Amino acid sequence: MAGIYVHIPFCKQKCRYCDFASFPEKIGLAESYMTCVYREMAMRSEELKDYKFDTLYIGGGTPSVIDESYIAMLVAAAKKYYNLDKNAEITIEMNPGTVSASKIDMYKKVGINRFSVGLQSANDKILADLGRIHTLNQFITCAKLLKGENFSVDIMIGLKGQTLEDISQSIDVAALYGASHISMYALTPEDGTPIYTDYLNGELPDSDEVAEQYAFGVKKLKKLGYERYEVSNFCKKGKESRHNLNYWRRGEYIGFGVSASSHIKNVRFTNTFDLDEYYKCIISNHLPVIDRTEISPDEQKDEFVMLALRTVKGVDTAGFERLFNVPFATEYAAAIEKNKNYLDISEGRVAIKDEYLFVQNTIIIDFLET
Ligand SMILES: C[S@@+](CC[C@H](N)C(=O)[O-])C[C@H]1O[C@@H](n2cnc3c(N)ncnc32)[C@H](O)[C@@H]1O
Ligand code: SF4
Repeated sequence: MAGIYVHIPFCKQKCRYCDFASFPEKIGLAESYMTCVYREMAMRSEELKDYKFDTLYIGGGTPSVIDESYIAMLVAAAKKYYNLDKNAEITIEMNPGTVSASKIDMYKKVGINRFSVGLQSANDKILADLGRIHTLNQFITCAKLLKGENFSVDIMIGLKGQTLEDISQSIDVAALYGASHISMYALTPEDGTPIYTDYLNGELPDSDEVAEQYAFGVKKLKKLGYERYEVSNFCKKGKESRHNLNYWRRGEYIGFGVSASSHIKNVRFTNTFDLDEYYKCIISNHLPVIDRTEISPDEQKDEFVMLALRTVKGVDTAGFERLFNVPFATEYAAAIEKNKNYLDISEGRVAIKDEYLFVQNTIIIDFLET
């Protein structure tokens, strides 16, 4: 089974840390953009007619900022052009400052069954400093509207002036209002974003402080019944994001819209990040792909291992051998030997030990250099 991703590149306002493709000043173009997205979906339907899809992920940007009727048409287009399983996981990302009861009613009516809400912090001062458009109270209103639904909450660590107490409160509030899933992301200060200046000025917590915040968050989440299944993702039993699990298993997916990426038949490709170029391509009946890479058999192995090592379960070694006709222990013998103190090696699995998951990159590099 494969996944479908659709990118909605609009937000009310750009957050100071964000470098995702989103254009607050172009929100007036939402209607024509969505028309192009439906058209792009139609353009690929013949090529993908033999595929079965079991997830649809509507991300951004902020999908909840546009009129809910566009989202309804988007879900209808996905069902019309693709073989979307009747029990598919259908997720929408939402910013608490853009949500209303009527929007959520419409989402549920059209079959959206998973919601991902960006809280980031329960501290209003930190939210304002990040350039977020909402307060803690607006998050609470949103979470109350989602009562009983399967919803995830994004929180961030590594923020300027953030204390362990702040992180504790962010987790508490997500748990109290019934989140089934929590993503805890360490801030990446991206070059070119306003927050990068804070980083250059030494105003952000250093890596030791962030590691301490992360360890604190993991412990707290565990206490509240959220099990870690990937370095930044935690959930109640059985509530993993199916869509993201497919990424980490190196599954296939098709992406639509500006900046969306895809992985089909061992080819990775990415759409243009430029909204005007996207329109021009679609209107002239061309796919908006700017970058296309065929993944060689050696690269496929490395991708499989690199993605799996991000997860708590790690590499399924029998699965590796089935796919690539070579035992995992033979192919990666040197990296396994070098990192044996950091790895949990059991029958059928090789995983990074819990306490080293946050610093996985140095370990993963050894596997890629084998
Ligand atoms: C597309 S946004 C989620 C939906 C909505 N746009 C919002 O922000 O509420 C995806 C998530 O990525 C995380 N994120 C974005 N930029 C980040 C960065 N530079 N470092 C770490 N996490 C980041 C945030 O937690 C954010 O909620
Ligand atoms: S609302 Fe979400 S996508 Fe938009 S700028 Fe903020 S973090 Fe980025």
